[in-house]
Amino acid sequence: MNLPNLNEARKRTNKEILIKTNEYIVKENLKELGLGKKYYIKTYGCQMNVHDSENIKAILEDMSFEETTDFEDADLILLNTCAIRENAHNKVFGFLGRVKHLKESKPHVISGVCGCMAQEENVVNEIRTKHKWVDIIFGTHNIHNLPNILFDSMTRKEQEIEVFSIEGDVIENIPVKRDSKYKAWVNIMYGCDKFCTYCIVPYTRGKQRSRTPEYIINEVKELVKQGYKEVSLLGQNVNAYGKDLNIDYKMGDLLRDVAKTGIERIRFMTSHPWDFDDDMINAIKEYDNIMPYVHLPLQSGSDRILKLMGRRYTKEKYIELYNKLKTNIPNVSITTDIIVGFPGETEEDFNDTLDVVSACKYDSAFTFIFSPREGTPAAKMEDNVSLEEKEQRLYKLNELVNEYANQANQRYLNKITPVLIEGVGEKGNLFGYTDTMKLVNVDGDSKYIGKIVNVEITDIKTWSLDGIIKED
Ligand code: SAH
Ligand code: SF4
Ligand code: F3S
Repeated sequence: MNLPNLNEARKRTNKEILIKTNEYIVKENLKELGLGKKYYIKTYGCQMNVHDSENIKAILEDMSFEETTDFEDADLILLNTCAIRENAHNKVFGFLGRVKHLKESKPHVISGVCGCMAQEENVVNEIRTKHKWVDIIFGTHNIHNLPNILFDSMTRKEQEIEVFSIEGDVIENIPVKRDSKYKAWVNIMYGCDKFCTYCIVPYTRGKQRSRTPEYIINEVKELVKQGYKEVSLLGQNVNAYGKDLNIDYKMGDLLRDVAKTGIERIRFMTSHPWDFDDDMINAIKEYDNIMPYVHLPLQSGSDRILKLMGRRYTKEKYIELYNKLKTNIPNVSITTDIIVGFPGETEEDFNDTLDVVSACKYDSAFTFIFSPREGTPAAKMEDNVSLEEKEQRLYKLNELVNEYANQANQRYLNKITPVLIEGVGEKGNLFGYTDTMKLVNVDGDSKYIGKIVNVEITDIKTWSLDGIIKED
């Protein structure tokens, strides 16, 4: 048993990061452990987790398990969890209740919790004491060891917990079963060392570890060969890519090299304003296959709050960068994340946030009420603003955000724009995204799925655009 430890998770040392190419092994006797059994995996949280689930699926299939999308039909149920806010927790414990219920009628079902919540000491303690029926818990640093964890649990019939709170290594030989045939998630780095005072990620994901350019570029080249149209380069803070490697190679260099593979669309997320350098802007400008879309989290428009958050930029610096992106990258779309109700946020601080939103007129924004995360510095800060007040601020902020999002969408009306058609939506229509990351619903034949086509935008909805395909 390896339990998570908050103090260990907080540590950062100069220990060398190892690139491990033989770490994932399925022993011969485990290759058929899942024969005739089905797995169901539910994923919460960010793209990083979505991609981890793609790895977990491939590992389970290496052990002969088969996927099912009906959890009542599964022999193995995994919850890949997110710890970013309290409501993410609540959703997971809510779903665990349903799994418990299912296990009452199907006791052979194996249940497991993995992902960022599994890295939290308090969560694991709660599961160990109140949800003893959960069979396995494994952390974000332990995915490659899933075959052995499962085997131990199935043979020993005890709760099996394997969560390392290490700074982490880079494991290069984990297989992947991708959800899409056209767009792929590609990790370029793991972990985060920014330690924004409200955020749990540096504790759940460990130290910043960049993958080497060779591994990333080879992965993208392979995807091109397989017919993929789009890659999203993933990291908590992609602009800091390469800073931990002993080579003179940064995000701008990586963007150029990935662009040279010829993949049709490149996206990257998430950007921290602090590390956004001019060379990155130049790279985006130079290559048509790097999409004109930047997610640039603001978090707050108040210099006082930004300082308390440990974001290391000011309102002025942020707007300066924003304007630089807008003037240098034609047609760029910029979105953001904003937290309201950070401890001690005054009306004046909040108005500063509204000011920045008015100045930037974002294409869209994800807005959140501050959620204290155990073990982070902000959770201990004095907070004298009521939840009611925070909710009112969120409401006001959303009104403004939506007004600008609508204005941004209006610019597309009657214009022709390229869309990668990804599949069939719930209402039977095709759907896809523009280069600027706008969701478009299109009437048309399924032969267009997986293709980038020109679409004329005919109607604007609050969260999406409607359009028709224009054949050349
Ligand atoms: N690495 C990304 C953020 C990932 S988390 C970045 O730095 O931009 C996604 C968003 O969740 C954050 O941008 C922030 O707005 C929000 N968030 C993170 N911790 C939070 C907390 N404790 N309470 C409320 N929102 C939070
Ligand atoms: Fe969290 Fe800040 Fe790291 Fe983003 S940059 S993951 S907000 S600590
Ligand atoms: Fe959530 Fe972990 Fe991502 S906390 S947002 S799943 S890195």
